[in-house]
Amino acid sequence: MAPTIPEGVGWTALVVSAQRAAESRRPDALFHDPLAEALVERIGEQAANVPPDADGEGGGDLTAAMGDFLPVRTCFFDRVVAEHATPQVVILAAGLDGRAYRLQQPEGTVIFEVDVPEVLAFRDAIAEGLTPTVAHRGVGIDLREDWPAALRAGGFDPAVPTTWLLEGLLIYLPADAADLLLDRLTELSAPGSAVAVEYTDRDPAAAVSDHVGSDPAITEFARLVDEGPPDVPTRWLGSRGWALDEWTTVREQARALGRPVPAIMDPDRDGMDTWLARAHR
Ligand SMILES: C[S@@+](CC[C@H](N)C(=O)[O-])C[C@H]1O[C@@H](n2cnc3c(N)ncnc32)[C@H](O)[C@@H]1O
Repeated sequence: MAPTIPEGVGWTALVVSAQRAAESRRPDALFHDPLAEALVERIGEQAANVPPDADGEGGGDLTAAMGDFLPVRTCFFDRVVAEHATPQVVILAAGLDGRAYRLQQPEGTVIFEVDVPEVLAFRDAIAEGLTPTVAHRGVGIDLREDWPAALRAGGFDPAVPTTWLLEGLLIYLPADAADLLLDRLTELSAPGSAVAVEYTDRDPAAAVSDHVGSDPAITEFARLVDEGPPDVPTRWLGSRGWALDEWTTVREQARALGRPVPAIMDPDRDGMDTWLARAHR
């Protein structure tokens, strides 16, 4: 029996993963994500791309508008993990993150994947039979609750340098929740830690519907998007003592990887900009 597809913001994890599956099938693939491929094999691409209550309608416009955005973003966050090579990696809002099934990290590395229990249960069902390449532990909790306590209970050690990934998360949070998240992860960060974030310069759902109109997937995406961080990463991360190492955009990274700029980011069509930033302390 196919596992129950998570509703609400949990569904967005499937959209992202389906795009990593599509990337994995390309002859010039930037990476191969076995978890994403297992998702598409198990439930099909269309089921991953439409909201669970949309009766199988829509999805194509949202993925077309995003173009190569998600594979390009994935490569940035992969590079941060590889370059910092800390003993702990914490993926906040991990969804169907496949890094534990495809990255090669130094022996002893542990990846902690934090997301709500129903999304992690779905992920575990999809991952059945896959062999991890990195040790990993799921921490099932809502990030509005006391996730630092849950993370520690799951074996996380705040004395050990950690790389934090906030990928595909901040747009779903009100500004004060984003601030609280940053405060909490900063408190848990030993010297030598790193953080990588994504920052969108406007409401991404509005940017998508401006470019391609609306369908059930875009309508659901628009319902889920919130404010995001209250400031640009330079000031936001700096205000908590993080030293910025890199601040780039998806447009720049797409060009560097030889991929077209995603339609929603096309500067000739007043496209949105998504920044990718990383910092250390
Ligand atoms: C777009 S997906 C990104 C998943 C993953 N980071 C990736 O890039 O593949 C957004 C994820 O955020 C998670 N999420 C959103 N709000 C959350 C919250 N309050 N607590 C825990 N997880 C949350 C959802 O469950 C979902 O898995």
